[in-house]
Parts: sequence; C-alpha cells; structure tokens
Amino acid sequence: METKQLFKLRKSVRDYTGHLSEEALQSVLDIAQLSPVGRSDYDSMHLTVIRNKSLLADIEKNAGEFFDDTSRQILYGAPCLILVSTILGDVKTINVPYSNAAIMANNMALAAIDLNLGSCLIWGAVMAMIYNEDLLKKLDLPQGFLPCCGVVIGETDEHFKEKSIPLNQIAVEYI
Ligand SMILES: Cc1cc2nc3c(=O)[nH]c(=O)nc-3n(C[C@H](O)[C@H](O)[C@H](O)COP(=O)(O)O)c2cc1C
Repeated sequence: METKQLFKLRKSVRDYTGHLSEEALQSVLDIAQLSPVGRSDYDSMHLTVIRNKSLLADIEKNAGEFFDDTSRQILYGAPCLILVSTILGDVKTINVPYSNAAIMANNMALAAIDLNLGSCLIWGAVMAMIYNEDLLKKLDLPQGFLPCCGVVIGETDEHFKEKSIPLNQIAVEYI
C-alpha cells in the first residue's frame, strides 16, 4: 500500500470478529522488530502477545473496575492484545522509553491496517494493569519491565475509507 494512503485509511477499530491468523500476527510482529529504538537499546523493549481469552478477560475486568465502568468491553472483543513493555529508568530520560513503546505500538497498528486488519492503540487498560500486582505477575515480564502501552489487532467487518487531510486539526506555529 502506498504510504500516504495508509495514513489516510488509518483509524481506530473497536469492533472485531474474533479472528486473527498466525501469519497476519507474525507480519505485524515483524514490523515491530523494524521499529526505531532510542540509542538502539533493543534490550530495553519487550513484547507480550496475549491471545489467551481468559487473560484478555482478566485485563478487561481489571480495567472496568479501575475506571468504574464494567459495562463496556475495553479491548473491544479483539482476539489479540500486544503489550509493549519497557524499562523506565531515570526520570530525566523517561521520554525515551515511553516514546520507544508508543512508536512501536503505532507501527504495529499501521501494519495491521496494511493487512486490512483492525487495530486500536490501548493505553487505558494498560495503565490500569500497573496497579494490579497479581495481573502483572501473569505477564511473566523480565525483571524491571513494565507494560507501557499496547495495541489490539484482529479481523473486522469495518471498512476502511480514505479520509481527506483535516485542515488545522492540530495547531502548527512557524517561528
Ligand atoms: C497515546 C494514545 C492512547 C490511546 N489509548 C486508547 C485507549 O486506551 N483505548 C481506545 O479505545 N483508544 C485509544 N487511543 C485511540 C484514540 O482514541 C484515537 O486515535 C482517536 O480517538 C482518534 O481516532 P482515530 O484513531 O480513529 O483517528 C489512543 C490513542 C493514542 C495516540
């Protein structure tokens, strides 16, 4: 797909069929491996692919309780959540690990669109996980790592329509 078209098609998908092939998942993970990482510190990054329905339900339940809203599916019934974890380190340089994680998650979201899959960046449910030690343990993360963000991916019946570029949606100042 042409790059500009990919950006115009991109959107958050919050409705999934529940299916995702292993091949498509691997293609998305391959793109994560191509992501830029500050100072090439690849060892500071860790991905967790969660397809286990029971764990996905636990994450969803935890977020529902955290946000005091158990009425909605915070992972939208997606068949897969890929968590991006990192070592946060010194507060002075904390913008680097957060950014590494965000860039990687977004690259995977874009890779999913390119495969005609739905995707949605997930920060809320991940934030809620940080406060639940028992849930964190289930991730079996290496020592020192914390989940920072994630992306749900999966097949969807939604259609992707090219958007026009919004004018002035984001403020831009030239100095
Ligand atoms: C840093 C960040 C965190 C986000 N976290 C969530 C989230 O937890 N749940 C969710 O449904 N969408 C989340 N989103 C998606 C935004 O809500 C979405 O990008 C925005 O509403 C614009 O819609 P669009 O992606 O369809 O253009 C997040 C997006 C970003 C960039």
